Amino acid sequence: DMSAEEQAFQARIDAGVKIEAKDWMPDAYRKTLVRQISQHAHSEIVGQLPEGNWVTRAPTLKRKSILLAKIQDEAGHGLYLYGAAETLGVSRDELLEALHAGKAKYSSIFNYPTLSWADMGAIGWLVDGSAIINQIPLCRCSYGPYARAMVRVCKEESFHARQGYDIMLKLAQGTPEQKAMAQDALDRWWWPSLMMFGPSDAESVNSAQSSKWRIKLFSNDELRQRMVDQTVPQAEFLGLTIPDPDLRWNEERGQYDFGDIDWTEFQDVLKGNGPCNRERLRTRVTAWEDGAWFREALVAHADKQAAKQTA
Ligand code: 3HC
Repeated sequence: DMSAEEQAFQARIDAGVKIEAKDWMPDAYRKTLVRQISQHAHSEIVGQLPEGNWVTRAPTLKRKSILLAKIQDEAGHGLYLYGAAETLGVSRDELLEALHAGKAKYSSIFNYPTLSWADMGAIGWLVDGSAIINQIPLCRCSYGPYARAMVRVCKEESFHARQGYDIMLKLAQGTPEQKAMAQDALDRWWWPSLMMFGPSDAESVNSAQSSKWRIKLFSNDELRQRMVDQTVPQAEFLGLTIPDPDLRWNEERGQYDFGDIDWTEFQDVLKGNGPCNRERLRTRVTAWEDGAWFREALVAHADKQAAKQTA
């Protein structure tokens, strides 16, 4: 049972009061927020890598500048989220150390390879589409700094999803080879995009407590269902086939029934055995090590400036 402080805290959560950094909070609330926000930030930073693969090979200068803008937005989302995590008393360096040591998670979706330009469309459409569905409720979560960070992120994500769908539309209405490329990308990104929402509600170890604390406003399966219901008509408009033979409209539910997710694939990716896990981590560690001199120079410069002020 809860202490008087925890009861008062829960009463504030139930009343929809935003918890701020200076407010008392149960250690477990702080801990689960550091876990989720830092992994969210890691996802944004690692998420730049799959798309970075196609910057030098974009088909037009316009597509190249849009892709660059999206990747830059993601870097900003990551820094924004590390900032939100720091309000909980952790340092950015220790969060990054956990990532580089393979101890912290980032979204499974970024461990898949980007094999063709159509993947840039499928990622914007499906990955950012899923991220938006997951992030909109987070704008109303109980922790103030996280909710406010999400408002800014969601504004930019809608551009990310729209530009991705525009790429898919162009390809789907192009030559047969282009349409085949778009279909191949949909085939490879569909199921991993549904896995982004996490394990089934029955398997989700954090959902019950996160829901009680209004960190999670909708369950993993509810948001996954929302993604399917939203995306099937979009695929039909593109004239592409969703790679799920069990997908069908369920009139009485007013939702789509869909096939089983391959949870062994999901668990493999989470264990670090996805197609690109090692490559992604190695790239991040190398970037961190190669950037050490620059960070040290910035700090040395700042210290010199500060010394001048006090002198
Ligand atoms: N990839 C990696 N790990 C995942 C995962 C995924 N897709 N889904 C779940 N997990 C992990 C959880 O982190 C948890 O492990 P942990 O306790 O060690 O952290 C475990 O699997 C069990 O999952 P739960 O459902 O119990 O965990 P949560 O309650 O935290 O729910 C979540 C998982 C829905 C991803 C939730 O953490 C969340 O909403 N996070 C914030 C949003 C986020 O991180 N989105 C990443 C999408 S990518 C992105 O936003 C970038 C955009 O630009 C594309």
